This record gives sequence, C-alpha cells and structure tokens, in this order.
Amino acid sequence: MHDSSARVEQLLTELTREEKLRLVRGRDDPEGTATGYLPGVDRLGIPEYRLVDGPLGVRAEGKRATAFPAPIAVAATFDPDLAREKGAAMAREARALGQDALLAPGANLIRVPHCGRNFEYYSEDPVVASRLAAGAVTGIHDEDVVATVKHYVANNQETDRVTVSSEVDERTLRELYLRPFRAAVEAGVGSVMTAYNRVNGMHMSDHSRLVGDVLKDEWGFDGYVVSDWYGTESTVGAATAGLDLEMPGVAAGDESDDQWPSPDEFEGEAAEIMGGLPDGTRAGLFSDPLAAAIDAGEVSPDRLEDMVRRLLGQLERVGHLEGTATDENTDSGAGSLEREGALDTPAHRRLAERLAARGTVLLENDGVLPLADETDVAVIGPNIHEATLGGGGSSETSPFQSTSPAEGIRARANGGVTVARGVDTIPALSLFDVLPFVGDGEDESAAEDEQSAAEPVGIDAAEPRIDAAVEAARDAAVAVVFVRDRTTEAKDRDSLRLPGEQDELVEAVAAAADETVVVVASSGPVELPWRDDVDAILEAWYPGQADGAAIASVLYGDCDPSGRLPVTFAPAGTDPASEQRRYPGVDGEAQYEEGVFIGYRHFDADGVDAEPTYPFGHGHSYAEFSYRDATVVDERTVRVTVENVADRPGREVVQAYVRPPESSPVERPTRELAGFESVALEAGETRTVDLDLESRALGRYDLERGWTVDPGTYTVEVARSARDVHKTVSLEVERGD
Ligand code: BGC
Repeated sequence: MHDSSARVEQLLTELTREEKLRLVRGRDDPEGTATGYLPGVDRLGIPEYRLVDGPLGVRAEGKRATAFPAPIAVAATFDPDLAREKGAAMAREARALGQDALLAPGANLIRVPHCGRNFEYYSEDPVVASRLAAGAVTGIHDEDVVATVKHYVANNQETDRVTVSSEVDERTLRELYLRPFRAAVEAGVGSVMTAYNRVNGMHMSDHSRLVGDVLKDEWGFDGYVVSDWYGTESTVGAATAGLDLEMPGVAAGDESDDQWPSPDEFEGEAAEIMGGLPDGTRAGLFSDPLAAAIDAGEVSPDRLEDMVRRLLGQLERVGHLEGTATDENTDSGAGSLEREGALDTPAHRRLAERLAARGTVLLENDGVLPLADETDVAVIGPNIHEATLGGGGSSETSPFQSTSPAEGIRARANGGVTVARGVDTIPALSLFDVLPFVGDGEDESAAEDEQSAAEPVGIDAAEPRIDAAVEAARDAAVAVVFVRDRTTEAKDRDSLRLPGEQDELVEAVAAAADETVVVVASSGPVELPWRDDVDAILEAWYPGQADGAAIASVLYGDCDPSGRLPVTFAPAGTDPASEQRRYPGVDGEAQYEEGVFIGYRHFDADGVDAEPTYPFGHGHSYAEFSYRDATVVDERTVRVTVENVADRPGREVVQAYVRPPESSPVERPTRELAGFESVALEAGETRTVDLDLESRALGRYDLERGWTVDPGTYTVEVARSARDVHKTVSLEVERGD
C-alpha cells in the first residue's frame, strides 16, 4: 500500500465494489470534449474526471486551444524551463476547457528517423528527453492538472505499433529508453500511459516486470497507470501486471458497429494508417470481465482497491476531492476546483511565439542572415499561406488564430515582399481522415475552419508554377523558400525526402536567386539534397500557430536562432536501424540490436564510416562565442567561461559530453551528453557557466550490479555539438560504485 491520505482511505472504505469498478474504466464524456472520461461517484463527492490529449496543445473535441510548437521544437531549445512554461500554459488551457489530466508529455526516444510521431517526442538522447519531460511534468503539475507521461516504453515506430515487439536488452532499456520515464517519475508525474507495442514479447499493458516491478516497485511510482486508447490487452494479465485504468473503456463509433474495419478495406496511405490503429471495438476489459476475474480469484480485491487508491490520490493532489484543497494551492482559498484556467491569453500567444523562435535551428548560414529590414524578399513555397501546426493524429490542435509564413514576413519586412507557391500545396495527413467514425466528428470542426482560412488569395490563388517562383526569386534580393514534410500518428514516413516537388522547387530557385534561404518545417530529420546550393537553412520543426511571426523574428535577427539539434541529421540508410530486422522488424519483432548505439552514439562508434549531415547538438547563432577556463568542480559539475565575442547579443547552448575511461569493461559510447545550459549573452559579455552533470552521467547499467560507475579517468568535453568540442577536462574517479 502506498502513502495515501486519510481522506482517500476513508473513501476506499465507503466505495462499493461497483463504484470502484466505475473508476477503473473510461466512458463516453457526456459533454463530448474529453479524450477519456470517468463519471465519478456523486454520492461521495468524487467528481467527474476528464483526460485530454496533448502534447502540442490541448485537443479537446470541437474546441480551440493554443497550438504551441511541437515537443521536438521545445527540445531544440535545450531549455527545460521552457518545457515547464509550456506545460503550465497547456495545463491552464486544459483547466479552462474543463479537463483534469493531460495526455502529455511524450517521452519516447527518437530511435528511427522515419517514425511518424517524432515531432511529439523530444530527442534521441535520454538526458535531453529526461530534462525536458521532467520540465513538462512540473509545469503541468504547477497548475494542478495531472500529467501523463507516454508511451511506456520502447514505442519507437508507428509501423505495426499495435503488434510489434521491441526486442531490446536490459542494459539498453535502462541506459536509454527507460530513463525519460524514470525522470518523469522522479519529477512526481501523476500518470504513466502504457504503449501499444510489446517489449520482448509481452504487451506493455500486461508487462508485469516493466510496469509492476520496475515502474511501481523499484521506482516507487505512486500515481496510476493508464492504457493507451484500446491498448488494454487482457483483463487478468493487465490488472495483475499493474494497469490501473482502461481507456477509453468504450468502443469507438456507433454502438451497432461491432466489426472494426480491416486495413484491406482501404487503399494506399489509408491502409497503412489503419494498420497502425488498435481495434476500436475492444473495450470494457476492466468492467464485467474484471468483476468476474475478481470473483474467480484471478485478480485480488486488493488490486482493485490499489487501482482506485492511485486514481483518487491524483484527484486529491489536484484539489479535486471535496474538502481536501489546501490554502497553499488555491488562489481564493476556496478550493482549486474553482481554478478557472486560461485560454488563448496574450501571454499564451507570446509563449507560443517565443518557443517557436527559440527552437529554430540555424543549420547553415553563409552570412545572408539575419536579413536587413529593407531587403526585397520573395516568399516561396507550397504552404506559405498556412502555419505548420503539427502532424496528424491525437496531438492535432486547432488554434484560435495563426500566422502563416507569408503573413509573418509581410508584417515584419520593410522591403518589398512577393509571394509564389511554386508547386502544389502539400496536403496535411491525418489518421482522422481515414476514421470518419471516430474523433472530430462534427463537419464544421475548428480544424476544418483553420484549413479553409489557409486558402491562397489574389494572384497567388492561380495554379502554382515553378517558373513563376523562379521569376519572383530573380526579382528579389533574397528568396526565402518554405518547405515541409507530412506526417501522422499511426504511420511512419516512407522516405526522409521532402514530399511533392519541393526539392525541385528549391533547386530551381537556388539556381536563379542571388541568395536563397530555406526554412524547413519537419517532424525530425529530413534529407536536404540541395544544401550546398543554398545560402542558409533554418530548421523550424512544427512551429505551431506563431509560425510566420516566429520565423520572421529569427530571419530578421530580432531573436537569435538559439535552437540546437536534439536529433542527428544523416543521409538515409546510415542510421543504426536501417536494416529491416531492426526496423520495421521481421515476423513481428523489431530487433534493437544496435543496443545503446542510437543517434550520435552510433555515428561516433568505431567502424561507422557514415558522417552525419548535421550532428546532434548542432546549430549556429548570429553571435560568436569563445570558451576558456574549463574546470571540474566536482563529480557533478563542470565550469567553463563563455564569452560572446560578437557585436550582437546571442544565445549559446553549452554542452558537456562524458567520455568513459579507456579501460571500460564493456563497450560504451564514445561520448554521451551529460549536461547542458542555454545562456543568453549580450555583445561582449562573459559568463561563467556551471554545467550540472546528470546523476547517472558517468554510469553504465550492469546486469548484476545495476547502475555502476567504473573507476578511472573520464573526459568531459565542453562542446557546441557532438562534433564540435571546444575544451576537454579530466575527471578522476578513484573508487567507483
Ligand atoms: C495515442 C495516444 C493518445 C490516445 C488518445 C492514441 O492513439 O497513441 O498518444 O493519447 O490515442 O487520443
């Protein structure tokens, strides 16, 4: 039994078994806004409970909310405080929309560059993902909403996500994939969502070792474990493994449909998406079947009690149980049930813009950027009339307002601005488009308004032509070309190339224009085959509603491009999962044979000839920094002096990587990120930066001893990226543990 308040224990004695069963399985939300809903128990003052999707913004059905940049963009800031600010803002919006729990953050690592949900996650690196996830959890909890870290664990691909088994060894799980979840637990996360996939043969909802033993017993997680939607595999297996809440608990769509369509009934992309969806008719495993299993002695009544205790514990924590709100966490002293939240406030709009600008990565710059105010600019690209809000699926957010690239540049520029789409619009891709029977439902949904608002007007409404774009580029001083990829949950990308004729467009413009800047909106790594032919490249990820405004502020130098890559960009076919056995897998199994060598850990390994196109941690500033006086303060801190030697302000992300001792008893990555700090420096300013190294930064996971620090000489590299080391210092560990 966990520490639990007297109030919760009292409720547990008063609840009947029927009432307890009502609290472990979701229902339809009578208001129709929640993604998951529990009816509560009126008689005892246990209120209704609503869970709602993130992690980009709040996706309450039929409602609008701020469309923040995607988590990968937030990760690119390398600033956990921003993840916290975003978490808090999303939580205020959730509250304003009557929701109690957010289905965010997503903490899976980016193992495969093709994964259709990379934009919902943070990084290929566990330290970045851990710190950002912990920041998001803290922010969400600051506002008395329950955070749900997802999808536990090794859910790294959308292809076959509901059936595939991630075959992954214990060291790799511990050193990579489990770490962000553990960090979320250490940050006090209220809920953990199990993944659809299997791990080493066992479905995650039923995984007694990873859910029961590791998450709950070893890490001491005392919140509740919720299934992914229709991702409860069994009644007895899941209940005994440690699953506490089945969601959504009711079948998708029409009650009369008891057949879930098979992918064969669809074609092309729709068939692929259907292949990535769970069976939406399978629901109610924690209703009568759970009661029967308890009667049959297959699940103990204590387990049901524990499920409810965990849920009530969270309700109480967010001030949701009558008479339990304390004065400190309320504004009025009358109980935080009265917290109203805040939706689409000026502060949230500004935050959406600040995050998008801060996360933008300057991949290349031959000096064309920042643009002078008077520059004549041609704004080119198939989707310049709409903001890139995100990819498709459960994270789709419908904003109240948004700024397209064309609008953003027009508003900021003092020179002439022409626009030309050049090639056909890249249409959005969404799993909801193949699921007419689930999700948004109403035809006049906010998302559709957003799309129609994006239709081009005036001369640019004509059929787009590459030669018209080339002409516009030739007449301007600088051509800024906006390109994007196309992704959705439930489907991986087939290729890392940009869809449609966008590469041809960039090439044609680059050949004609004096200067060409390309702004890429993508879910993760993409191939940029024309990168040597252009003058600057910005990676903007999915910037959300503030798209054009944020990008303009970076293009014109109002905001320094302070994003750094949280994921390696590399030529297709060179990543560690590029064999079919590894990804997407063979015979239902994806072999994580690369072990701990994913992302930069792979490209740095001996015997790997391929070079990253842009390494992990890379990104230029408009300023320039010099590093000196690196010293080891103690085993957890490295100090370095950083000077902005440019005549303009800028922001640097100072990174510390650890190299293990030569004598390591097992093969270890060449370097692993151990700490980082984003620092703003005025022109000429010098600052001493203390880099806090992760508690497990020197460690490795030993199968017998657990986390182990070997004695020896470690090297700490102070760097601007995994491939741009500025200082090295030694760190002696005399006696390991
Ligand atoms: C996704 C989850 C999401 C849930 C509810 C699932 O398809 O994997 O991330 O929270 O749906 O929409």
